[in-house]
Amino acid sequence: MNFAAITPERLPDLLRAMPKTELHMHIEGSLEPELIFALAQRNKVRLRYQSVEELRAAYAFTNLQSFLDIYYAGASVLQQPQDFYDMAWAYFLRAKADNVVHAEIFFDPQTHTARKVSMRTVITGLHRACVDAQSQLGISSSLILCFLRHLSEDEAFDTFEKAFPFRDKFIGVGLDSSERGHPPEKFERVFKRAAQFGFKLVAHAGEEGPPAYIWSALDVLHAQRIDHGVQAIHDTALMARLAKERIPLTVCPLSNQKLCVFPDLSYHNVGQMLDQGLSVMLNSDDPAYFGGYLNDNYLQTFAALNLNAQHAYQLASNSFEASFVSSEQKAVWREQLDACFAKFGA
Ligand code: HPA
Ligand code: ZN
Repeated sequence: MNFAAITPERLPDLLRAMPKTELHMHIEGSLEPELIFALAQRNKVRLRYQSVEELRAAYAFTNLQSFLDIYYAGASVLQQPQDFYDMAWAYFLRAKADNVVHAEIFFDPQTHTARKVSMRTVITGLHRACVDAQSQLGISSSLILCFLRHLSEDEAFDTFEKAFPFRDKFIGVGLDSSERGHPPEKFERVFKRAAQFGFKLVAHAGEEGPPAYIWSALDVLHAQRIDHGVQAIHDTALMARLAKERIPLTVCPLSNQKLCVFPDLSYHNVGQMLDQGLSVMLNSDDPAYFGGYLNDNYLQTFAALNLNAQHAYQLASNSFEASFVSSEQKAVWREQLDACFAKFGA
């Protein structure tokens, strides 16, 4: 592939056009303020904010927790299966516009079951949107159930049990919410149980937390992907292992900027990680809160870090490699990626 043939001026269009997957996106984090207000009205939920503008103005975060407080409050408007469907469908339309061919989507059932919204309501609403995304938009997708790590492992077990009757509608389990003080070890037994039933395993680690949490996500939870993982840069032995074993890190640059993990995008380490041979790709995390969907992440990161067409190819290729689909499907996407680069002159 002749990457040098792609001039910097054509790079933004190439980034928009190239096929890609999204592997780190919390569906509750795709809930736009307009939809929050519409659902609040539909379900007669009172909000603390008077207007869409006032709510959006509150999206000034200083760290992960300051975001989570407002993110859980926003999710309180979700009550009926149709609400979950509408939220996911809105995401799929944005994903289609960004040439996302496949999405592995996180959901946080405990945020809803705590409000007496049933597991059936959550999963059936989301799953129906996934089915329609395939038939109407040609986007394949799957759901990953995340346990909230600020809650206990017993509560995670209870959640897993409630979701079990719907086990054909999600492919894996993950771990999210407040990281510091809630190490992966806390969830060793419930991850082991999920693995016994063949679920895929992922975990947020090394977003704000130390490299030690990435080690234990790998060695104690047996996570197959690390969500975020950007703190790995402080541990040479860990970086070597991640590169050697091609353990994917689902990196989310705009999220890291908005939650002050880095002072701004120009300090982000995803370029270094790519250059050191790690399997990283870009993701939007909570696009309604962090200022952009997937292509916004690609465009702004490339501009801030001066990345090139070869980086773009590697990121898209990693996004296929790291997904939980068949090798045949990955080969199909790689051919589409090659065709896209050829069209742009590579
Ligand atoms: N980190 C942890 N928990 C989350 C996040 C995140 O970036 N987004 C939604 N829940
Ligand atoms: Zn996340």
